[in-house]
Amino acid sequence: MTSEPSWLEDTRASYDTVAESYTEYVRDLLDDLPQERAAFGQFADLVRANGDGPVADVGCGPGHVTAYLRHLGLDAFGIDLSPRLIEIARRDNPGVRFEVGTMTDLPFPDASAAGLLAYYSLIHIPDDVIPQVLAHFHRVLRPGAPLLLGFHVGDESRLKTEGYGGHPMRVHVHRRPHTRLAAWLTAAGFTVASHETPTSAEGSAGGILLAHRASA
Ligand SMILES: C[S@@+](CC[C@H](N)C(=O)[O-])C[C@H]1O[C@@H](n2cnc3c(N)ncnc32)[C@H](O)[C@@H]1O
Repeated sequence: MTSEPSWLEDTRASYDTVAESYTEYVRDLLDDLPQERAAFGQFADLVRANGDGPVADVGCGPGHVTAYLRHLGLDAFGIDLSPRLIEIARRDNPGVRFEVGTMTDLPFPDASAAGLLAYYSLIHIPDDVIPQVLAHFHRVLRPGAPLLLGFHVGDESRLKTEGYGGHPMRVHVHRRPHTRLAAWLTAAGFTVASHETPTSAEGSAGGILLAHRASA
């Protein structure tokens, strides 16, 4: 059995620590982000245009975006690294499927997802692991199915040592230019459809990138 890298253990422990305060922080966030809601609406239309079906929210946190996608009529479910966040997601969204797991080894069958969203979760994945993660995204998506990425725009990595009410964290946050993400996506077999740079919840530039797995 291969042991888990320390950055992954640290990310899990960090989000377990801040799970309650993070949930409070994001609870009503989408109310103030019309461009993000519009992008989710566009994503939902693309899922339906390609035949509908289960949609994975990867790195779903407490499940507020999963819930919004369900409100848009999608059969959305969530997966997250943090067991504590998944407990909260289940508590706050009874009857919705949420599971613990990592995007570095996504536990879903090939071509089983009609859409996949990774909203501010790839930001914690180091550059050299991104191709492995995107290969999983590509593998689990059906041909033609859409992918939505939300991320911090920039070109720097920093170690965040506290957050969401001053709790201790040890999590790397990677900001990336959209051109780098687009190049990684193209190399992984995706077609990049659009990119926007609205102001993120944290007041800095946030990227939203829409792509799809090439049709068979
Ligand atoms: C900034 S939060 C975003 C959460 C949620 N998508 C939202 O919009 O509020 C980052 C999330 O990514 C999750 N995460 C980080 N690395 C992950 C991995 N390897 N696999 C699955 N989830 C991961 C964290 O546990 C955390 O919930």
